[in-house]
Amino acid sequence: MEKKDLDWASLGFGYVQTEQRYVSNFKDGKWDEGGLTTDANIVLNECAGVLQYAQTCFEGLKAYTTEDGRIVTFRPDLNADRMYTTAQRLEMPPFPKEKFVEAVKAVVKANAAYVPPYGSGATLYLRPYMFGSNPVIGVKPATEYQFRIFCTPVGPYFKGGAKPLTLCVSDFDRAAPHGTGNIKAGLNYAMSLHPIVEAHKAGYAENMYLDAATRTKVEETGGANFLFVTKDGKVVTPKSNSILPSITRRSLMIVAKEYLGLEAEEREIYFDEVKDFAECGLCGTAAVISPVGKIVDHGKEICFPSGMDEMGPITRKLYDTLTGIQMGRLDPPEGWIVEIK
Ligand code: PLP
Ligand code: COI
Repeated sequence: MEKKDLDWASLGFGYVQTEQRYVSNFKDGKWDEGGLTTDANIVLNECAGVLQYAQTCFEGLKAYTTEDGRIVTFRPDLNADRMYTTAQRLEMPPFPKEKFVEAVKAVVKANAAYVPPYGSGATLYLRPYMFGSNPVIGVKPATEYQFRIFCTPVGPYFKGGAKPLTLCVSDFDRAAPHGTGNIKAGLNYAMSLHPIVEAHKAGYAENMYLDAATRTKVEETGGANFLFVTKDGKVVTPKSNSILPSITRRSLMIVAKEYLGLEAEEREIYFDEVKDFAECGLCGTAAVISPVGKIVDHGKEICFPSGMDEMGPITRKLYDTLTGIQMGRLDPPEGWIVEIK
């Protein structure tokens, strides 16, 4: 199969339209057979549930070309699980998990020419999503839905690749204690648009959100979980019911313990402790692990000892091991790598 003639190394995190996407419709209480289509556009009624009351959710995962030329995805079953939970919270009909994984495979296979080559620095990002499609005017769940997966080749989420980022502590809240912060609802991202635009205007790459109830604990950013490394080399990550249970973070905790022999702990992290950490990073499918060099809290700077030039040494080891597993350089734990054949 011949690869598309794209300048893979120059890709940012943007949308490049690819050839095939998956579509399935929910109507009369059931999902239809579903299948691939070349049509990238969606025609909706003006009163569709998604347009009126934002009844929509999504997922994100990647396909990689391995060192030995295979195409693989990373733990798609966990995306299927999380979308299932998200749909339940939003009163949407969950998409069957096995069908989700089959649809991921079908989309990657049909767009194999767009899976960036090994070593190019780019990957194929898959975006499963679902929305209420029939007219809804009273505030209630739709009765018809569409599930789709498209894919697009992407480069690094943050410009500059692995250069340490500067973040600011946000005055806005991302999620309420019993709200929707732990699911991947579109509404969580809509409300983060104003804070991210403000942060960018002020020269910051992202916002650090604190817990809405007490504003004393670290939550996450708009699109990634936090990882910290203590001065004695322990990996710690915030535990909270109002952050997204990142698949990357959950995988990294296993990588830290089982591949690197490090101590790794998920616990509440007070903002007051942040100044004492040696390293900080953001982790997620899009972010992979993006190092953080500095966090600014209303003019007060917290500068991590790892500095502004490169990743800290433990962040680097986590990054190399995770990407080593994803790109087939290291043996994966059972079930983590799903080959597309
Ligand atoms: N937190 C938020 C708010 C996100 O949008 C994402 C991205 O999916 C993550 C964390 C990281 O999650 P994952 O590692 O499953 O991509
Ligand atoms: C992902 O990492 O897949 C996300 O959905 C995060 C988003 C900021 C692009």
